Amino acid sequence: MKLTPKRYLVTSALPYANGPVHIGHLAGVYIPADIYSRYLRLRGREVIFIGGSDEHGVPITIKARQQGCTPQQVVDKFHEMIKKSFEDFGISFDVYSRTSSKIHHKTAADFFKKLYDEGKFTEKTSEQYYDEEAGQFLADRYIVGGCPHCGNEKAYGDQCEKCGSTLSPTELINPHSAISGSKPVMRETSHWYLPLDKYEAWLKQWILEEHKEWKPNVYGQCKSWLDNGLQPRAVSRDLDWGVQVPVEGAKGKALYVWFDAPIGYISNTIELLPDDWEKYWKSEDTKMVHFIGKDNIVFHCIMFPCMLKAHGGYVLPDNVPANEFLNLENDKISTTRGWAVWLHEYLEDFPGKQDVLRYVLCANAPETKDNNFTWRDFQDRNNSELVAIFGNFVNRAVVLTQKYFAGKMPQPGALADIDKAALAEIGEAKRKVEDNLDSFRFREALREAMNLARTGNKYLADTEPWKVIKTDEARVKTILNVALQLSASLAVIMEPFMPFTSQKLRGILNIDSATLQWEPLGSDTLLPVGHQLGEPALLFDKIEDDAITAQLQKLEKMKEKNGEQAYRAEPQKELCSFDDFQKMDVRIVKILEAERVPKSKKLIKMLVDAGIDKRTVLSGVADSFDPQALVGRQVAMLINLAPRSIMGVESQGMILYAESADGKLLLVQPAGEVQNGVKVS
Ligand code: 2FM
Ligand code: ZN
Repeated sequence: MKLTPKRYLVTSALPYANGPVHIGHLAGVYIPADIYSRYLRLRGREVIFIGGSDEHGVPITIKARQQGCTPQQVVDKFHEMIKKSFEDFGISFDVYSRTSSKIHHKTAADFFKKLYDEGKFTEKTSEQYYDEEAGQFLADRYIVGGCPHCGNEKAYGDQCEKCGSTLSPTELINPHSAISGSKPVMRETSHWYLPLDKYEAWLKQWILEEHKEWKPNVYGQCKSWLDNGLQPRAVSRDLDWGVQVPVEGAKGKALYVWFDAPIGYISNTIELLPDDWEKYWKSEDTKMVHFIGKDNIVFHCIMFPCMLKAHGGYVLPDNVPANEFLNLENDKISTTRGWAVWLHEYLEDFPGKQDVLRYVLCANAPETKDNNFTWRDFQDRNNSELVAIFGNFVNRAVVLTQKYFAGKMPQPGALADIDKAALAEIGEAKRKVEDNLDSFRFREALREAMNLARTGNKYLADTEPWKVIKTDEARVKTILNVALQLSASLAVIMEPFMPFTSQKLRGILNIDSATLQWEPLGSDTLLPVGHQLGEPALLFDKIEDDAITAQLQKLEKMKEKNGEQAYRAEPQKELCSFDDFQKMDVRIVKILEAERVPKSKKLIKMLVDAGIDKRTVLSGVADSFDPQALVGRQVAMLINLAPRSIMGVESQGMILYAESADGKLLLVQPAGEVQNGVKVS
């Protein structure tokens, strides 16, 4: 039986302190976690929101080596930078600490020691690469060699960054150490393993049976791991950076970063509440929710729960609403390629516009699938939603009240149906936002909150108080009373999503934080009659084309720097009806013959087998194909395009091609051999 939670423990993935944070981090993890925490606080729930930097692991040691400094110097720099970005964007952590802290080292070491003393680990000796010149074992990332798949000579022992293949160091051709350049040798080393296989039956029951409500992307990934069978997982590494293994004879061994990092959630809670932390971690009526990105699912749904279970006494996560990834201008965000929008740079370019980014990233959050951030969409959402709807509505309500009633909340008269309907929307919006946030549907929740602003905007457009004032002042009092009730409700309902705007709006309406509560939403107590409003001000302003062009140019320069060609997918064409679509008869045809058309630079004439007949078709593709290479290929073709005569030859249809970013054409082929003339639909 599930207990009604008494308190909430909200965690967000601890970002690696080896670089600044970007919009992908914000959209995937920190904005939803912050919205959820703020929402719970508004509802008067007992909640703590835990964050911090993940300061261990091999990439940090690599960065230090590259920069000629110590790992501690690397994490000191980026921890401060990341912490500041989160503060700047209003991510309302109750604590933001770090895994290099003393308290964390002690907590993580004690955790390991308990499991070790109770015999929860297995110990295994295996052979690993060792650098004799540097006198150390080599983490997979420290071994470089040829990729067996694409020939890239600088593939890492865990991955080839050119072709994306996952590798193991023994697969590399001619492996050598990234530290000394010498050829590494195999040497025996022993490590401790958490036998995940022993927890498999329990995990199957706990996740697959008892947490069917988890998001499909999370549940699906867990199921696939569990169906494939779990293996023991090493929890130590030969590394001198990290939490040292607290066992005699384990010199030079550190806890695996994925063993210590999630314990950081516990350490940071201890730092926040030294005397009270167990209330959150060790009571069954705590609801723990981990906000993470999809690459962290296995660690939070399988490994960390097994660690907690092995330890005993701790709560397990109630939900892990992991998000998918955010792309930037149709390309994967990549720190190494500099393809990102860094939060600190955004604020330099758009000072004071934190909420615009928060809004756009939530409205477009990669909740169920990878999603795309584009600067044009950012501009559109700002100009046509935030400025034109939300900002415009509130501004009109306040300015008109200032103008007609000296800024005092007017006394309403009898409510007309249109007034009642508008006011009823507040309660409706409250209920829908609650429903969605309780189920981690942040995009939808924000859409419902914005609908309340839409309602307000439409209400003013329909009631036209600026006209009615000429004939019926009493009616205008009612209208503006309703509009201001809606405005005040927006200050509350938008707070989790856009806290800076909510604060500004409260200033404009002259309402203090004590009024900032969720439950009274929908009642008419937010702004009493006679209440004196503050000064009107615009909540948002328009973002001009120049600002967007500058951002696009910045990205283009990044591509040039990386030697890549900038590519932006063309905007979608206008919608077509299903009937229009059905008119097009696209088939798979086989090219039987192909030859250049004499005197034409571009044209190739082909004879194709379209199943129903054999016919001639022309394509202007001689730049991209040698005619002989086309013969025998099955391709997609629009067969009912009206025949056209080109250079005296009649073309009976059109072969379809994909055009790559650099203008090269590629054939569109079925994934396997099919009969000629089959339909593509
Ligand atoms: O993927 C990452 O950025 C990790 N540093 C997340 C760690 S989450 C938690 F376990 F600390
Ligand atoms: Zn490769």
